[in-house]
Amino acid sequence: MFKVGIIVASDKGAKGERTDESGKLIEEIMTENGYKIEKTAILPDEREILAQAMREMCDQLKLDLLLTSGGTGFSPRDWTPEATLDVIDRLVPGIPEAMRAYSLKITPMAMLSRAVAGIRKQTLIINLPGSPKAVKENLDCILPALPHGLEVLRGTAGDCARK
Ligand code: MTE
Repeated sequence: MFKVGIIVASDKGAKGERTDESGKLIEEIMTENGYKIEKTAILPDEREILAQAMREMCDQLKLDLLLTSGGTGFSPRDWTPEATLDVIDRLVPGIPEAMRAYSLKITPMAMLSRAVAGIRKQTLIINLPGSPKAVKENLDCILPALPHGLEVLRGTAGDCARK
């Protein structure tokens, strides 16, 4: 079972002024797909707070996957991609490329997400946009490819070049 952490970046959510629907939806979808949720955190849109939480969750819980939601747009408080870039060792451009290509068939607003993905040690970190609708659509896009990527990251996958 792959271990998953969830970080919701939301000033209002962190203050308890908005109920978190997106984190719950990620939890629901990932659990249905056989992943194990280790921890969920709702944090303010602060670059350093988000980066520190990402470091701690990935390293202490030895996560296979960390999904973030929110803070990928143009608002002056949207810093999730930058916080992610602060903590990753290797960029994974194909995942956000695929998410935007898939999502653009649904809404032109998809081009407004600056989401990134990357690898920190043994953990894949993926930014998702903040709305429950966007969470669902982006997870629909990435779920088919995730298990193989995570197995390769763990070192338990077969050699794909030989298939
Ligand atoms: N992607 C999908 N698939 N569906 C959506 O509804 N919403 C977009 C975009 N990506 C959307 C989407 C919108 S309206 C915005 S502003 C950006 O994600 C950034 O969202 P965020 O700031 O909540 O991260």
